[in-house]
Amino acid sequence: MAIKLNVQNAGLKAHELDYIRPLVESANRALHERSGAGSEMLGWLDLPETYDREEFSRIQAAAKRIQAQSEVLVAIGIGGSYLGARAGLEFIKGPFGNQLHSGKGVEVYFAGNNLSSAYVQNLFDIIGERDFSVNVISKSGTTTEPAVAFRLFKAKLEEKYGKEGARERIYATTDAHKGALRGLAEEEGYETFVVPDHIGGRFSCLSAVGLLPMAAGGMDLEKVMQGCADARTAYSKPELPDNDAMKYAAVRYIMLSKGKGTEILASYEPSLAMFGEWYKQLMAESEGKDGKGIFPVSANFTTDLHSIGQFIQDGARTLFETVLWVEQSGHDLTVPEDPANMDGLNFAAGMTMQQMNEKAMKGTLLAHVDGGTPNIVITLDRLDDYTFGGLVYFFWKSLAISGYLLGVNPFDQPGVEAYKKNMFALLGKPGYEQAKAALEERLQGI
Ligand code: PA5
Repeated sequence: MAIKLNVQNAGLKAHELDYIRPLVESANRALHERSGAGSEMLGWLDLPETYDREEFSRIQAAAKRIQAQSEVLVAIGIGGSYLGARAGLEFIKGPFGNQLHSGKGVEVYFAGNNLSSAYVQNLFDIIGERDFSVNVISKSGTTTEPAVAFRLFKAKLEEKYGKEGARERIYATTDAHKGALRGLAEEEGYETFVVPDHIGGRFSCLSAVGLLPMAAGGMDLEKVMQGCADARTAYSKPELPDNDAMKYAAVRYIMLSKGKGTEILASYEPSLAMFGEWYKQLMAESEGKDGKGIFPVSANFTTDLHSIGQFIQDGARTLFETVLWVEQSGHDLTVPEDPANMDGLNFAAGMTMQQMNEKAMKGTLLAHVDGGTPNIVITLDRLDDYTFGGLVYFFWKSLAISGYLLGVNPFDQPGVEAYKKNMFALLGKPGYEQAKAALEERLQGI
């Protein structure tokens, strides 16, 4: 694998992994035997073997059509119907991917992941007079944020291209048989793709949910799936010493048992910022239930060393870090010599930025370990399609084992409904009248 796990700075005693090994291997067995909680949602486990090849080809064809018909794709979705595609595109194309016009696909922007009017208007302005297409992604079709955004973008498309023209530019990814969006798509004649039944939102980014925006944006889907397939093989080994996904789950569990209840996923490449957002959903929605779990945070170093660095070094000792380190950044800028040397940096003249970044990473790692923040390091060869597919699978697999170790169902998310109920009541949705009155009373003065 192009992914290496190093736990030598996690502060483990020699016996700790040995003691927990039977538990971890049994959690892994429960996963493979499909005998644990939520086992009906394990469609992702063998996905690189079982995925629908016919739909995969249609996704690639649709991506080509989007590239031919538009300069911009607006991908509308939230949570699991949003984060993976954005994480993948930034992983490959970087934070300036939409401005670089690298010849790799269309510009992809994301909407329907908030309720901000300014955000949608800014996106309208960015698109301007240019041709655009829309991929609306929602299993239910009734999630508020994407539903609002889809109304707005559909109206824009129909105004610009007419109803017929809009139909050619709207791609709907939704439930195979039921739901509001399925009904609308069939009525209007949009091309549709499927959000699989047995794969939850946060495990869905290598289904049509993530694959269509990724392909339209220029990612190589064959390589993504190959990385995922190789990771599946690598992380299927039944013994902990041979299986890094198990080892990572074990070390996280040991961290939690020592009072380290917050995990920071830190990276030194801005291209990984959105991967951190994807990881937060995966971990928090899967583990954070029944009063349990590790709270996931993401950080971008060295940027955040100048903000939350103080806390990591010296604040409440409840943290551990998982550092994502990229061995080959793909570029080799060097620090220039400056005759005036006012900043005193000439000692580093001729050094590559990658070399400096590596020293920063290593120095920070030791400083944080010395300050009482244990570190796990995951090294990636490079940020390419293959590695993305593999890394996604690594975290899925490890997290699933982790959930079983904690004794929770890692594949449900009952807690996300609470805010929706209150929001619907306050918005005056029919059926919520009683709740509305009670909430409004509690909100008096706020
Ligand atoms: O993980 C999840 O289940 C959620 O994040 C959902 O993906 C998210 O709420 C979007 O739901 P839907 O696809 O039904 O619009």
